[in-house]
Amino acid sequence: MQTANGGSTRTDARTGRVTQLVPHQQKAITTMTDNQLLDRKASDGTAVEAGTKATERFANSGKYSRLAVSKERVSTLAGALIKAANDIVVEHEVTYEEYNALKAWLIKVGTDGEWPLFLDVWLEHTVEDVNSKDRPGTVGTIEGPYYVPNSPVLQTPATVEMRDDEAGTPLRFSGRFTDTEGNALQGAQVEIWHADSEGFYSQYAPGLPEWLFRANVQADSDGRFTINTMRPAPYQIPTDGACGQLIEAAGWHAWRPAHIHIKVSAPGYQPVTQQLYFPGDPHNADDIASAVKEELMLDPQPRTDGGEGEEVVYDYVLAKIGETK
Ligand SMILES: [Fe+2]
Repeated sequence: MQTANGGSTRTDARTGRVTQLVPHQQKAITTMTDNQLLDRKASDGTAVEAGTKATERFANSGKYSRLAVSKERVSTLAGALIKAANDIVVEHEVTYEEYNALKAWLIKVGTDGEWPLFLDVWLEHTVEDVNSKDRPGTVGTIEGPYYVPNSPVLQTPATVEMRDDEAGTPLRFSGRFTDTEGNALQGAQVEIWHADSEGFYSQYAPGLPEWLFRANVQADSDGRFTINTMRPAPYQIPTDGACGQLIEAAGWHAWRPAHIHIKVSAPGYQPVTQQLYFPGDPHNADDIASAVKEELMLDPQPRTDGGEGEEVVYDYVLAKIGETK
C-alpha cells in the first residue's frame, strides 16, 4: 500500500501489526526461495576457498587444545547465550519464517567455512577488549582470520617478499621495543602480514606468492627494527559467502579500512596482536570488524632517507609476563 511520502505499509500476517516502510527499506527487502539461502553457487568459490582454509588453520592451530573448563562455567556461558537469543525472539517477535531463514543461514556459515570470519569480524573485538584491559603498554586489537604461522624469519633491516614491479606505495616501517620502564628489549620480533595494493592476502586469494607480505622480523639488540613493505589497500571481507549474504540482506557494507597486521613478542613479555591504520581512510570510523582504535593510527611521512614512498614509526612497549596496570 503506497503512502503520501512515497513509502508504503506492510501488514504482518501473524500479528496484524502494520509497519510504515520508507523507500530505502522497501528497496532493501529481498525475497528468497527455499533453496537460495543454502545454495553454493559457482560464484561462491572465493569465499568458500578462503573460509575453508581459515577453518582448517584454526582447527590445526592448537588454540583450544588444552582448554579445561568446568561444567559450571560452560553452563553459565552457554546459558547466557541461549537466554540472549530467546530474549531477541521475544523482543522482536521473530516469525517462523525468520527463524527458518536464520537456521538456513547458520547452516550456510558452516558449509562456506565462514565461522572464523563471522566470529572474528563481529565478536573478536569485544573478546580482545575484555582480555587486554589490565595489560600495560602497547594497545592491541583483533587478529582476524588471515594470520599464518611460521612465516619467513628475517633480520632487521628486512624487506618482505614482494613480486617484481609490485604495485603500490613503498612503506618503510620502523620502531623500537622497550619494557614499561623504558629499557630496550632484547630478542623482540615483529610478525607482519597484510593485504596487497588490491586488498588480497597471500595463502587466501588464489595466484599470489605463498609468503607475499608475510614475515617474522627479528629486532636488533637495542630493540630496533625496520621493515620495507608496501602500503596495503582497504578491502571488503568476502561478499560471495554467508557473511556477504547477511551484509547484503541487512544493507550494511563489507569494508575494512587499510591496515597492517602485527604480532609482537619478546621472551618473558606478554605478546601483543594489533593492526595499524592510516589516517583519512573512509572506513576508519565504520570498520565492519570494529577493530580501529585511536592508538593504532599511523602518521605516514615522506621518507627522510630520500627513498621512494612513505615512512612510519611505531614504538612498542611490552609488559612483563604477569605485569598488570
Ligand atoms: Fe586484515
